[in-house]
Amino acid sequence: MPRVFSGIQPTGDPHIGNYFGAMRNYVRLGEEYGKNAIYCVVDLHAPTNPGAYDPARLAERTFEMALANMASGLDPEKVIFFAQSHVPEHTELGWLFTVITPVGELERMTQYKDKAGKLESIPAGLLMYPVLQAADILLYKADTVPVGEDQVQHIELTREIARKFNASFGETFPEPKAVLAKDALRIPGVDGDGKMSKSKGDASTLGILEPMDSIWQKLRVAPTDPARVRRTDPGDPDKCLIGDYHKLFSDLPTIELVYQGCRTAGIGCVDCKKMLMQGVRRELEPLQSRAADLRADPDRVRDALATGARLAREIARPVMEEVREKVGF
Ligand code: ADP
Ligand code: NA
Repeated sequence: MPRVFSGIQPTGDPHIGNYFGAMRNYVRLGEEYGKNAIYCVVDLHAPTNPGAYDPARLAERTFEMALANMASGLDPEKVIFFAQSHVPEHTELGWLFTVITPVGELERMTQYKDKAGKLESIPAGLLMYPVLQAADILLYKADTVPVGEDQVQHIELTREIARKFNASFGETFPEPKAVLAKDALRIPGVDGDGKMSKSKGDASTLGILEPMDSIWQKLRVAPTDPARVRRTDPGDPDKCLIGDYHKLFSDLPTIELVYQGCRTAGIGCVDCKKMLMQGVRRELEPLQSRAADLRADPDRVRDALATGARLAREIARPVMEEVREKVGF
């Protein structure tokens, strides 16, 4: 039976990269797959980011991430939605996968190299992160994984782990494939410094639940095409963050207007940013109002996660029993 799985870390406030790159696909595939769409706040992964992990705030951040997904349209009554740490089978399968995963493969992962390069002491968990991620997916025998482009390498490793397990212990797991949002492969950070990411902190991100004036303050000072020094210089909207963001938020006539206006110096960067704000409001204000409703009724979020964990375990337990038997326990 085809099945979807994806997870999101509660390491900070969800941003427009998460939203356009992954969360909107959760909702879309959820409509199609119903209870065969399984989504998870991957709280066990959060402590592998030493800079973004605070034990006193983890539970609250897991709650916030769940709330943000529900406000984005994820319907916990339609799909299965839960917190990873509520289903202990994830860690058990993850451990078994560590013994069939070569350390060399893990050391080659781009995300590991990026994050480890900034640390003086590297936690083994940071290296093992993609192994636990493989377990998250394969525990549900999922074959479809909606993620951003930065996760493609990890999904490829998941396929290798599935192949290796099947070859060693008998056919058990499918080889899952990544499903990318074609129009939002890798959304750049608003500070102009590479990919937008929670783990890089607030300066990089535009939060989907961030107040409009705070979003505007970041956009106002965001870098644009550096070749456009004076208002009268033409620019290249394809080399501009704001141009990228218009493609996410604005309607086609607006996109055509600002792209043409930028190339001919017919419109200045500030006006272009103001027009972007109209699209931002249109997309995010309804979402933020749903978030406010949920915050006023937090039990709706907590109950949803509790029910989700129960349903997830109903799938996870028999898979884990099958695995234990095949591995020899
Ligand atoms: P982050 O990198 O912000 O900590 P996660 O690791 O929790 O985010 O990833 C959650 C999902 O969002 C993943 O599927 C990831 O690929 C996607 N994603 C994260 N950042 C971006 C981005 N800048 N552009 C597109 N997708 C992204
Ligand atoms: Na990431």
